[in-house]
Amino acid sequence: MTQDKILCDIGFIGLGVMGKNLVLNLADNGYNIAAFDLSAEKVQGVIEQDKKENTTGLPRVYGCSSYTELLAQLKAPHLIVLSVPAGSPVDQVCESLIGAGVQPDDIVIDTGNSLWVDTVAREQKYKNNFLLFSSAVSGGEVGARFGPSLMPSGSPYAWTRVKPIWEAISAKVDANTGKPIERTKPGQVITEGEPCATYIGPAGAGHYVKMVHNGIEYADMQIICEAYHILKSGLGLSSDEIADIFEKWNSGLLDSYLMEISVEVLRHKSVDTGTTLIDLILDKAGQKGTGLWTAMSSLEVGCPAPTIAQAVYARSISSFKELRVKASTILSGPGEVSLSNQEKQDYIVQLHDAIYCAKMCAYAQGFQLMKLAAKEHGWTLDFASIAKIWRAGCIIRATFLQSIVQAYARDENLDNLLLDSFFAEQLNARQSNWRKAICGATMFGIPNGALSSALSYYDSIRSEMLPANLLQGQRDFFGAHTFERLDKADGKKYHVEWSTAERKTVVVE
Ligand code: 6PG
Repeated sequence: MTQDKILCDIGFIGLGVMGKNLVLNLADNGYNIAAFDLSAEKVQGVIEQDKKENTTGLPRVYGCSSYTELLAQLKAPHLIVLSVPAGSPVDQVCESLIGAGVQPDDIVIDTGNSLWVDTVAREQKYKNNFLLFSSAVSGGEVGARFGPSLMPSGSPYAWTRVKPIWEAISAKVDANTGKPIERTKPGQVITEGEPCATYIGPAGAGHYVKMVHNGIEYADMQIICEAYHILKSGLGLSSDEIADIFEKWNSGLLDSYLMEISVEVLRHKSVDTGTTLIDLILDKAGQKGTGLWTAMSSLEVGCPAPTIAQAVYARSISSFKELRVKASTILSGPGEVSLSNQEKQDYIVQLHDAIYCAKMCAYAQGFQLMKLAAKEHGWTLDFASIAKIWRAGCIIRATFLQSIVQAYARDENLDNLLLDSFFAEQLNARQSNWRKAICGATMFGIPNGALSSALSYYDSIRSEMLPANLLQGQRDFFGAHTFERLDKADGKKYHVEWSTAERKTVVVE
């Protein structure tokens, strides 16, 4: 399958949707690619696609039919990009490359959604065989083709080689406005603007940050889905009416890629039936695991991320379709709530504010999680830079990210985004509407776990006192787990002898 012997700049393994589009993006940016996939059809597919799109008159993509052929087709030291599913496929490819003669100074970049601890382990495991570098990619098919957001991490030496390539193929942002610079056509290359690719840290850090990106993505999506559900089943609006509302919101504070695509999905009419597609889509959500990993990590690190966790639960509960159908005939909800037109209009404004506030909380949870995880794992994460590379190319891209960049520029050590003056001001101005929106959704009987978990998070964060005093009392009562006292020195532990008649308080050393 190999064409004339031209040594390529980059070897590429895995030509699925993301892989194929990354190859074409690399080719547009002037790199020759040796491409391999276990499926010869996929190899042929990318070559055909390149032929259609290539206007340079020079070959850019060389198909390979084995790992050995791929290595032979590359300039040394080899630079090899993997775009294969997370988990054992990554190891299978690594082992195959070793079998094919990959060298210790070759760089292998894992661009999949690998679990960050696997990346840390792999860097060690393969260190005598090759240099494993990782770079999570966000942006889906279109992002991969015309500019993704890239979260590279691992050996700083490897980064010096990867950096110019990554900066070339990534999405770009106008430094003054913080808005994406559009690139939509094959062959088009953007050289100005700030690249959405920044070195994140040592092995695992980039995949961790991408995992949290996906956790936030889950929350963001669920918040929009709850708003759709409330507008549809609470206010009785049609999909087109909801699309109109979302479209309007998308031109203001809620401007985001996820809002934009929701409008498209809501408006789409199925070609075969001519009816609204959204009403034909089975309401059972899939998940590949990154949201779950984020929620699990938040529990391990001890960082509250209830809106992200709630978004994972919402997907789980959606999968119990049969149970829900059955329960819908057994369990009652509130009676019908009818609103006047004016009340509906007012409610829509309240819902807008609820989405905005919940979104701020979801991002606050994700960023705080990264901060605490960084401390635990000894990473130095630059949160302004992370927010910068999420302004374009990735799935959670939104104008809103610019406010996060500014918040971390004001204070790089910010403990929680909600403490930033801009975020506090936005929340203070809208929290009353947020509460009304949740009261309304609850009275309609529409589940609103993401919106309301965010409100609970907000109310917890702003509570000087929480009922953990009673909880500590309970723990001390049944398990002598001790408690500290507000009126005594920090760190001193007390216990009440609950089982004695005197119930004396004793100091526990
Ligand atoms: C991205 C996406 C991407 C992908 C996830 C979706 O940033 O480009 O997050 O990584 O779409 O696989 O995951 P779920 O299947 O779990 O929704």
